[in-house]
Parts: sequence; structure tokens; C-alpha cells
Amino acid sequence: MVAAADPIACESSEYVDPDWIVVLPRRKKRKGQPKTPPPEDEHQKPWAPPDTEVDSTKKLKLVQNMQTCLKKLESSKFYDLFINQIQDPEVSTCFTRVLGSEPKMNMVMYGIGSIESFEAPRLQLSLAILMKRRFEWVGEIEVFDPVLSATEIKVIESLGCSVMSLNEQGRRETVKPMLFFMPHCEAVLYHNLLETNWDVNKLRNMALFGNSFEAYEHHASVVKDYIASAYTKRILIARTFTDEFRIPVVPDDHCKAFHESSWHFFNPESEKGLPIV
Ligand SMILES: C[S@@+](CC[C@H](N)C(=O)[O-])C[C@H]1O[C@@H](n2cnc3c(N)ncnc32)[C@H](O)[C@@H]1O
Repeated sequence: MVAAADPIACESSEYVDPDWIVVLPRRKKRKGQPKTPPPEDEHQKPWAPPDTEVDSTKKLKLVQNMQTCLKKLESSKFYDLFINQIQDPEVSTCFTRVLGSEPKMNMVMYGIGSIESFEAPRLQLSLAILMKRRFEWVGEIEVFDPVLSATEIKVIESLGCSVMSLNEQGRRETVKPMLFFMPHCEAVLYHNLLETNWDVNKLRNMALFGNSFEAYEHHASVVKDYIASAYTKRILIARTFTDEFRIPVVPDDHCKAFHESSWHFFNPESEKGLPIV
């Protein structure tokens, strides 16, 4: 990411990812001092929204906004390109490889953001829902973001998705084929997902939509004295056995929600085993 990889990534969140937002030159870091991950990253915790009351007026308005968003996205040039890309033999072969003998893969969606406050999260949720409607091999959709309110949860459920009651910190184990939809997430979540599944077969069970790993690599190559954090280090290593396909962007209303994103499929060589990170 030469440019700020994502000013939008922060649009819907107060959380700023130090590994993803790239800005102007910073103070030099001393060599050999990688950042230390915050300890709470490692723990999965039961979760409930801070507010328990569903606001029926807000709910109605949000349902209408979501319906508008679904229609707008479905009729967009971006959506055509997105679907064509999935059907392209190069990409569809990767999905088929992940599916193996299974008829479906469920979708886990982390880091959606607030669908009430921002359009990018509404578009991202809409894209996941349209994908499920379009492809029979997409199974149930589970959603999680700690910023979701009780009202947002009700709306997400009304659209046929479920919301997790556990903050997994991105650590879902891929005991079977699984699609991870993680638009503009912080590097720590990709790291946690990869670390939990740092096994040849588990990685092969995974299709990941998220920040471009190629962009992380590009950033590492152009920044002087770059030192990868523990999080980006794993992403950069995974990149060596990743098939990546950039999500097409067209300069329209939707591009902010999907820019710098890619499909990632992991195909490490069994014989070599995985690098120790
Ligand atoms: C940079 S924002 C991206 C939001 C939205 N997808 C977008 O593109 O605007 C990252 C999101 O990850 C969420 N997040 C943080 N920790 C998380 C966790 N453990 N599981 C799922 N989401 C998490 C944040 O609350 C935030 O909404």
C-alpha cells in the first residue's frame, strides 16, 4: 500500500490498524524491535452488544436502507465484474479446490463495521448476501463485529444471517471448507486466522476475501527500513503460497467499500511443510 491503504477502512470504526494505514514518513523504529501484540488478542470471549434494546424505528429504517443497498449493488457494474471474476476458470478452480468433496462452504464474516452508521459495511454485507443467493455452494453466513448494536443484530438476522455470541478474535478453525469475508480488517485478524490454521490441510480449506496480501508485500518492499510486526510477518510468509486475485474496482459509488481487496487461496506444498513463524 503505497497510498494510505485505506482511509475508508477506518470510516466505520474508531480502530485504526497500524499495519494497514500507511501514511507519511514516521520516526525510525529501532531495528530488531518488532511490535508486541496486545495480550487480549489471544482470548476468545463471550460477547453481547452493549445495548440490549432494539429500537424499532431505527430497525425499520435500517431494513429499508439494506434493501436499497442490495438492489443498488445487484444492478451495478461492480457486481457484474465481481460475479464474472468468481466464474472465471482460474478463480472458480480455486473455490472448487477448497470445496473438495463438500457441496457447500459456510461464510464467516469478521469486521463488517456498523451497518447503521456507514455505507461501506452495508455494501459489504449486501455483497456477501448476494453471493449466497447467487451460488448454491455458499452456505450459512455468520457475522461478527464488536461494534454491532442490538438493532443491527436484529436486521442482520432478518436478512438470513446469524450473529456470533463469541468474539473469536478471528480464530475460527477450518475443520471443513470455509469462506472468510473480512473486508478491510486489521492485520491482527488475518494473522489470528492464519495462525489458528497454520496447517497445510486447514489452510487449503480456506477462501479469504480481505485486504490484499500483495499490497502488504508491496508496502514492505517500498518502505525504507521496514520492520514487519508479528502480524504482518505471518501475512508476508503466507503470501509465498497464496493464489491471489484482486477484486475488480470500477470508479463508482461502491469502490470505497471494496478497494485494495482480494480473494486469497492458500496452497502450501505438503512435502515442504509450513515455515515456523
Ligand atoms: C477498519 S474497520 C473496517 C470496517 C468495514 N469493514 C469497512 O470497510 O469500513 C475494522 C473492523 O474490524 C472490527 N473488529 C475489531 N476486532 C474484531 C474482532 N475481534 N472480530 C471481528 N471484527 C473485529 C472493528 O470493530 C472494525 O469495525
